[in-house]
Amino acid sequence: MTEMKEFPLLDPKEGIPILYPHVPSNGAKYIAEVLSSRWIGQGPKVDEFEEKFKESIIENGYTIAVNSGTSALHLAYILAGISEGSEIICPVFTCTATNIPILYEKGIPIFTDISKSSLNIDLDQIENLITSRTLALCVVDYGGLPNNYVRLREICDRHRLKLIIDCAHAVDTYRNGHHVTHFADYVVYSFQAIKTITTGDGGMLIVKNKSDYEKGKRLRWFGIDRAEKQKGIWKNDVSEIGYKYQMTDIAAALGIAALEESTEIFNKRRKLYQLYQNFLEEFEEGLLEKPERGTDFTPWLVTINTKGRRLDLMKHLREKNIESAQIHYRNDRYSIFRNYAKGAFPNMDRIEDDYLVLPFHTKLTSLDVRRICDEVKKVLRKDRL
Ligand SMILES: Cc1ncc(COP(=O)(O)O)c(C=O)c1O
Repeated sequence: MTEMKEFPLLDPKEGIPILYPHVPSNGAKYIAEVLSSRWIGQGPKVDEFEEKFKESIIENGYTIAVNSGTSALHLAYILAGISEGSEIICPVFTCTATNIPILYEKGIPIFTDISKSSLNIDLDQIENLITSRTLALCVVDYGGLPNNYVRLREICDRHRLKLIIDCAHAVDTYRNGHHVTHFADYVVYSFQAIKTITTGDGGMLIVKNKSDYEKGKRLRWFGIDRAEKQKGIWKNDVSEIGYKYQMTDIAAALGIAALEESTEIFNKRRKLYQLYQNFLEEFEEGLLEKPERGTDFTPWLVTINTKGRRLDLMKHLREKNIESAQIHYRNDRYSIFRNYAKGAFPNMDRIEDDYLVLPFHTKLTSLDVRRICDEVKKVLRKDRL
């Protein structure tokens, strides 16, 4: 087996962490340059990062860089027109960050079960959940796996709903040859420490029209038009409630360095994922991020179905110095969502005690993946003996 060695390797003494930040080779240099410049908060590097993200990652739309994916989601809900009582159809299985901003605005999350074949939302259920109060549909590309954007767009058009895609896990996702930004009204990215592209913490909101773009930029900074203020032509009034959500130049510098090596990052992740697929092929359901025809993506997580052996497997891996975890939990179990946890989620019930996330990051080698899979097989194969 040939070793993939594009990035510096982990100290073996640390064992195998589940996630690990990818610090790009020019990261420290670009941050040092920012630190010796006039702008360390929001300045020209934020504009440059937005421009480069637009050029190298998305297909269409305007880019608004913010301080987290959660902030980007909050802005997306506001721009979509959320108000008290607005219903947002959203996944029951995701990071709470997808759904908490709905509560900020007194909206109502309408949880939807996962599909039978992946941990993404079950598209067959969406139309049963639409009411006269439904404003938008927000879906997550769990683990990086693209949803069926074509079908989602068609449902949203037919019911006049906004389509928000939470791509916190998925920087590089295509369906039928088109990037996710071709289909959605709003796309949200997260650049949290362990995401595919990181700025330490940060996010990006993609919007499709100029008025959302202008408003989004005002809302990320107190409701003030920053460009007008800097030119001295701002009218000294604030008429919209804005937030302190802007990205800093320090963070943007790291993002720019990451974009420079995004192809290598994506390739390495894709190759490692392929190895996981090969090594775990013998297990019926194997990896849970299963690509459908017409999709192309860079994975962010590797999630397996342990078929009732999760705790045994976690314990065994821990003994072998290999981390594993659930990462996300179904949201209807959290107290903050108790009032909204209506309906049945049979597919979620079925996998709730079984899914497990294995190590996946650019510090892994192919030998690491083989070692992890060998240990996984030792436990999961026991079932069959
Ligand atoms: C699906 C999903 N959405 C949103 C977020 C929020 O991103 P951030 O941590 O940048 O606020 C996360 C974070 O992990 C996530 O996993």
